[in-house]
Parts: sequence; structure tokens; C-alpha cells
Amino acid sequence: MNRLHIILGDITTIQTDAIVNAANTTLLGGGGVDGAIHRAAGPDLLKECRTLHGCPTGQAKATKAYRLPCRYVIHTPGPIWRGGMQNEDALLASCYQNALRLACELNCQTVAFPSISTGVYHFPLARAARIAIDTILCSLQAHPEIHCVTMVCFDKHTQAAYEQALAEKEQLNG
Ligand code: APR
Repeated sequence: MNRLHIILGDITTIQTDAIVNAANTTLLGGGGVDGAIHRAAGPDLLKECRTLHGCPTGQAKATKAYRLPCRYVIHTPGPIWRGGMQNEDALLASCYQNALRLACELNCQTVAFPSISTGVYHFPLARAARIAIDTILCSLQAHPEIHCVTMVCFDKHTQAAYEQALAEKEQLNG
């Protein structure tokens, strides 16, 4: 059965065990999906984030979800695109890997991701989508306890890029 879904939507409304936040290394909030998650969760999210003292790019830290309709928020700072020669691909892959590893540790069976790094951080969308899809599918094989991962795309252009990446991967796998 298909354990990876791609939808158009607002991740702050998704009722999974955990939603992933495309954060920055301070974990003190920002714009984009980070801002939306903090607005929807309420001020207690920032209060808890302050106790975490930041998070390195590619790593992941979890908090409670407060007013959001999920159990946890997993914060992971994606890489800022700097032309592709500063280990951006590997750092982006580690965001997805570490977020799913942490979701398992928290006994989450369903996880939702935004399109990490493809907004303010300017990571090329098609390249990011391929890395995300590859890494999620690989992690799903390693973690059967994760029942379902949902890519929540905020616009149709992003949704099309992830659907394309998944279709290419399925074609490759035959
Ligand atoms: N639900 C789902 N996806 C969303 C939402 C939302 N409510 N709001 C924005 N997005 C999408 C954007 O359209 C983009 O496709 O999330 C994707 C990631 O974009 P950003 O939020 O800009 O994240 P990123 O590119 O990783 O940059 C992170 O931006 O907001 C700051 O504090 C954050 O400094 C960090 C940087």
C-alpha cells in the first residue's frame, strides 16, 4: 500500500502525529511555514523552542504542538542554497532522515512535511523534490513503524514538482 502521499494544503491544519517545520537554526520562528506554524500553535511553542538553544542545519528537534491539531512539531533547519557546492543536497536529505528518525523515537505513525528549503532558502524545487522523495522512500523502508508520510505542498507548482519526482522514482523502480 502507498505510504507516501502528496497533497495541496496548509500544514498547520493537518491532523497527523507530527508535522515538520522548515525552521532556521535559531528555532525562534520566522516567516513562511515557520511563521505559520508558530502563529497556529500559539506563543507556548516559542517558549518551548527557547529551551532548545537552536538546532544545526540538517538536524531535528521536537516540541509539543500546543494549539496545532497534531502531537508534535519536529523542527529541522534546511540548507540555504548556495549554488550546490556546499553540501546542500546531503544536508537536505539529512533533514528528512533525521525528522523521520525522531518521529519514530516519538512513536509517531503519521508525519507531514512541507517542502523544506524551497522557499526563502531558494533550494531549486525539482532538485529538492527528488532528494525529498528519495530520502522519504528510503526511510520508510527502514522504518516500517511509520505508516504514512504526507508531503503538504502550499501551491500547485510545488505539488507538481513532488508528483513528478515520485512518478520518476516509481518508473525507475519498475
Ligand atoms: N503549509 C505548508 N507549506 C507552506 C506553508 C504552510 N502553511 N507556508 C509556506 N509553505 C511552503 C512554502 O510555500 C515553500 O514551498 O513551505 C515551503 C518552504 O518555504 P519556507 O517556509 O520559506 O522555508 P525555507 O525555504 O526552508 O526557509 C526557511 O524561512 O521562514 C523562514 O524561519 C524560516 O529562516 C527560515 C527560512
